[in-house]
Amino acid sequence: MDNFPNSIDLSTTIAGVYFPTCLMNASGARCVTQQDLHRLGESHAGAIVTKSMTPQERSGNPEPRYVSFPGGSINSMGLPNLGYHAYTELIPDLRVYNKPIVASIAGLKPSDFLEAVTAVNDAKPDLMEINLSCPNIPGKPQIGYDLHASEDLLLKIRDRAIPPIGVKLPPYFDPVHHEAMADMLTRVGVAFISAINSVGNGLVLDAETETVVIKPKGGFGGIGGRIIKPVALANVRAFYKLVGEHIQIIGTGGVETGQDVFEHLLCGASAVQLGTVLVNEHVEAFERLERELMDWLRKKGYSSVAECRGKLKEL
Ligand code: SIN
Repeated sequence: MDNFPNSIDLSTTIAGVYFPTCLMNASGARCVTQQDLHRLGESHAGAIVTKSMTPQERSGNPEPRYVSFPGGSINSMGLPNLGYHAYTELIPDLRVYNKPIVASIAGLKPSDFLEAVTAVNDAKPDLMEINLSCPNIPGKPQIGYDLHASEDLLLKIRDRAIPPIGVKLPPYFDPVHHEAMADMLTRVGVAFISAINSVGNGLVLDAETETVVIKPKGGFGGIGGRIIKPVALANVRAFYKLVGEHIQIIGTGGVETGQDVFEHLLCGASAVQLGTVLVNEHVEAFERLERELMDWLRKKGYSSVAECRGKLKEL
């Protein structure tokens, strides 16, 4: 019996949709423009996730608004996007790449989400990821930290969306909050959870110049990259244990290497999204991480993503 399989199956299925590999971009990372989306199509990415779209085109927050530093990144992009009309026109052309298309939907108010969902239905994306967690719009709190507002909105979206819907959640830091959110998402019947968005409203300084490093919101912004991995893994694990039997988890946060992907899978992720590493390394990151993940799965005797999902041992 061969404990070290040569052929490793990196494919996955989310809400009945087949993904040729379990790695894709996180909404926000290199997925705003037509060119970005086609590059994702041509790359080894297992899916194309759009930038979170709003009814109107947005240029986003003033620059500088993204800075990477050793171990991570801070951003306050402010949802720059082409507006849902443009994405609705772009999505059909992306079909040529024969990989799932995930439309990420955002809004500054509930009616924005509903308007976008209704319009984007026509473009027939495979899945819709509802972004409840952008921390970067001045004066607009992250919806995912308000359970009732989240439920209200998701019930309305559920009644309008044609493809299966999932939610992009902010990080939670207490089991009570994981449980409350998991119960609500079960009641609504979402198909998947993407966890986590950036850790909102962090602050990064340049001590030499005694200044903040990004301009919007007095320097406060979402933290991503390697330093948030423990928070991301904890959220994937918590939701997997609570709802993993009926809601699939897409792990996002802190992925730089194949080992990081493997850890997300062990915690219960069915797929993994790349943010900061994709910004830093461009789409070439997919091929490297695919290779490194294969090495990890082979070394640990797993022949597929499905086989190692959730296999984390507790002491
Ligand atoms: C942004 O555009 O500000 C980031 C998007 C997000 O965090 O959801």
